[in-house]
Amino acid sequence: MKISTYQKKEKEYLTNSEKETFLLAKEIAKDFKGKEVVFLIGELGAGKTVFAKGIAAGLGLKDIHQVCSPSYTIINIYEAKYPIFHIDLYRLGKNAEILDLGWEDYLGQGIIVVEWAEKIKFNLDAIRVVFHMVKKDQRKITVCFY
Ligand SMILES: Nc1ncnc2c1ncn2[C@@H]1O[C@H](COP(=O)(O)OP(=O)(O)OP(=O)(O)O)[C@@H](O)[C@H]1O
Ligand SMILES: [Mg+2]
Repeated sequence: MKISTYQKKEKEYLTNSEKETFLLAKEIAKDFKGKEVVFLIGELGAGKTVFAKGIAAGLGLKDIHQVCSPSYTIINIYEAKYPIFHIDLYRLGKNAEILDLGWEDYLGQGIIVVEWAEKIKFNLDAIRVVFHMVKKDQRKITVCFY
């Protein structure tokens, strides 16, 4: 008997350098269909922006140097195979401010990549990427697909 049609797929990775994290994200992004939402969850310096760069590279963005934490601008948009909306919630406190970002303009229009996504208190289907700093150059990265 099939109990549930919903099967959560979770994978755990250990990376030993910035480059390995970049390449991991690049590989994962190659399978993206165009409307994925990616939540990046982890402390300062955990590797969220490195992962965002890898996603952009996997989607064929030529100049990945444009990819940086949009901490002040809140959102950066890159033109790759699909538009990439790179959002950083670090400076946003209240859920109301986050809701106000105009998600309806981005959802379904491209790939949405969110740093500090743990601040989102409303329901959004997303691939959740959680970073744990093991030691200086080592990160445990759990990727949970929905
Ligand atoms: N295995 C690793 N994976 C990713 N980054 C690593 C790794 N080892 C060391 N680093 C270093 O950790 C830092 C990660 O920086 P990054 O800007 O991606 O963090 P962040 O999570 O986006 O931080 P912030 O919250 O400030 O935006 C970089 O300096 C990178 O070189
Ligand atoms: Mg960052």
